[in-house]
Parts: sequence; C-alpha cells; structure tokens
Amino acid sequence: MHFEYTEEQLMAQQSARDLAQKEFIKDVIERDTNAIFPEKHVKKLAELGFMGMQVDPKYDGTGMDTVSYVLAIEEISKVDSSLGVIMSVNNSLVCFPIEKYGNEEQKEKYLKPLARGDKLGAFLLSEPEAGSDATRQRTIAEDKGDHYVINGTKNWITSGNSADTYVVIAHTHPEKGHKGINAFIVDRHSEGISPGQHEDKMGMRSSDTHSVMFSDVKVPKENRLSDDGMGFKIAMKTLEAGRLGIAAQALGLASGAYELSLKYAKERKAFGTEIINHQAIAFKLADMATDIEMMRLLAFKAAWLKDNGKPFGTASAMAKLACADKAMQITTEAVQIHGGYGYVKEYHVERLMRDAKLTQIYEGTSEIQKIVISRAITNA
Ligand code: CAA
Repeated sequence: MHFEYTEEQLMAQQSARDLAQKEFIKDVIERDTNAIFPEKHVKKLAELGFMGMQVDPKYDGTGMDTVSYVLAIEEISKVDSSLGVIMSVNNSLVCFPIEKYGNEEQKEKYLKPLARGDKLGAFLLSEPEAGSDATRQRTIAEDKGDHYVINGTKNWITSGNSADTYVVIAHTHPEKGHKGINAFIVDRHSEGISPGQHEDKMGMRSSDTHSVMFSDVKVPKENRLSDDGMGFKIAMKTLEAGRLGIAAQALGLASGAYELSLKYAKERKAFGTEIINHQAIAFKLADMATDIEMMRLLAFKAAWLKDNGKPFGTASAMAKLACADKAMQITTEAVQIHGGYGYVKEYHVERLMRDAKLTQIYEGTSEIQKIVISRAITNA
C-alpha cells in the first residue's frame, strides 16, 4: 500500500492549484453573484488538458489516472466548485461513456473535440418526474428506421445551455421498462432542441443549470451508444465514475473551507489571543482536519480501484456520501469560525457552504448513495 503521489499526480495537482489560486480566484465572487458561466476559465482548463484528463491520448485526451483527476478537481473546487462540476461532468459523464461504450466513428467525431475541450458536454438523465427514480424516463426516442425522433424534457442539466454535445438517456421501448432505455449522443444545436428554464440556484451559481426541451429532434441511428437497450446500464456505470468526481469536488470544498478557516484562526484575535488558541476553535479545526483525511482516503481508494480495473461503484458511492455530507458540515463550521465575516461574500466560506449543499443532491442524493451501498452490502 502506498500513500505517496507519483510525479505525474503531483504535477496535475500543482498545475490545477496554480490555475485556481492565481487565475480563477480573481472573479469567483462576481461570477457567483451574477451567475456568470465561466467560459474563458473552461477554455483555460482545456488548454491544460483538464477537460479530457483520463481520455486516451489517441483520442486527444491527457491519459492521466483517476488519482490525478481527483487531485485536480479538488484543487479547482477549493476555489470554484462551479468549475469543478463543469469539469467533472465533461470528464466523467460525457467523455467516459463515449470512450467506454462508443464505437470508433463516435470517438473520432465526438470524443476527440470533447477531450480537447473544443466542445463541452452535458449528461441528460434527470427529468421533471425522474430524478432519484431514474428508470421512470418519459423522454421517448422513437425508432424511425435510419434515425430516432426524440421528444421530452430533461431537467437540472449541468451545462444544459452551454454544452455542444449531449449524452441523452431516453426510452425507445417503454413497455420493456429499464431494458427499453437507450443512450444517444446528440448535437445540442440540432433542430428541435430548445433551452427551458435557467435555474436560479442557491449555490454553484456560475455553473449553468438548465432544463432542455426536445421536440421532434432527429438523431441518426449511428448516434446510439452501444447495443439496443443498454442505456440504463450505461447511465448507472457512468454515474459510478461521476460520483467520484463529485466526491473530489466535495473534498475540494471542504479543504478550501478548512484552509481559509485555519488561516483566519491564526490571524484573528479575541480575548487577547489568536482564536486558534481557544480550544473551542482548535477542536473544530481538529475535527475538520480529521474528516478531510477520511474523505481523501475514501476518494483515493475508489480512484485506485478504478485505475486498477476493479469494481469501484460501491466505493465511489461511499466516497460521494461521506465527502458530500462532511463537506456540508465542514463548510458550515468554517462559517462559524469566521463569525460575522463568514456570513459575507468577501471571505468565500459562505459561498463554499452554499455550494456544498448541492453535492448532497446531484449525481444521486445522499439517500440514493445509501440505497446503492446498502444493496451492495446486502448482496455481498
Ligand atoms: N451498473 C450496472 N448496472 C446497474 C447498476 C450499476 N451500477 N445499477 C443498477 N444497474 C442495473 C441493474 O442490474 C438492473 O438491471 P437488471 O434488471 O438487468 O439486473 C437495472 O439497472 C435496474 O436497476 P435497479 O432495479 O437497481 O433500479 P432501481 O429502480 O431500483 O434504481 C438506483 C436504482 C440506484 C436508485 C438508480 O435509479 C439511481 O442511481 N438513481 C439516482 C439517479 C441519479 O444519480 N441521478 C443523477 C442525475 S445526473 C446529474 O446529477 C448530472 C449533473 O448534471 C450533475
């Protein structure tokens, strides 16, 4: 067992840290306040190879391992977790299923530009009546011989109105239940696709969350991923990878809040001494540091399993559950340590607290992770 990072992993961490701490920090408050999509920041991530981090270099990716990916998302999310989720969705929910389940033509046409970051991806599973209960898809893709026609509405889509390439989950044979679901690669600029509501969110405000409407959208047959009826399994396998990205994002939120709190506690004086000398504060920081270590170990265990070709779905659900719930606690404590300053935007921790809440909700709520974990331990 090794607890040391490789040179390559350290380089990924350092270059993400530099980018976040020197560049992304500058306008993060303004982007959050005004819900501005970080277009130029995404381009910067792409230039450094962070949008297709794990994609094989033969498909224009960076070909790094999952540990490097977790380290990079952590560093970006310490400063701006909206960028963390945009990056995670592109890497894990879009590049991953196309690379794993796509054919050579699909990889050539769609994966390469996504991995280079020339195009941005979104994953369209959730619907108004199919959030946690993902098999209840109402979006229909009707088989018309050489093409499908898609009708329906997708909700809560990260990068919904900013992405170029969608992975869309839809029913082709509703009578077959989840076995009648398919996954399609769809060009967002196709005729019949229109943006619905832009969600005015509590946190992750500079990530673009939209509903998307499909009205008689023609999709060529060759855009279906894998064999007929594989869509639900593809969605579930994709979420196994995605949940690890969200665990890394939550780890970043928590460690960002912890670092800010530690610094503040060493500087801020009350009752004649720096507040870190008060046990009430020192114990909070001790709990935070311990929890972050636990989060990190869970996330890296899941990453290691994935890198070594072992089943990682349960580990990824555990990492997401623990990291999201702890990120919520840690960011809330960070606000408490900062007192009144913690409640205003300038000190960053209130944003991290608002952002942390979403990690307990998307890519499967904490309760869904418990379903996944409890089924795994029941069947073990
Ligand atoms: N890998 C492969 N197959 C899987 C699987 C996995 N991890 N999990 C389930 N399946 C298969 C099952 O084996 C079953 O197939 P068979 O009948 O052939 O055996 C089929 O899928 C149905 O599985 P279940 O009976 O377990 O289905 P269920 O209705 O009980 O639901 C669930 C399972 C885990 C709760 C699932 O519905 C789920 O994960 N829900 C949450 C959805 C979610 O995470 N949404 C997030 C949206 S994406 C998002 O947030 C994106 C964003 O923009 C940030």
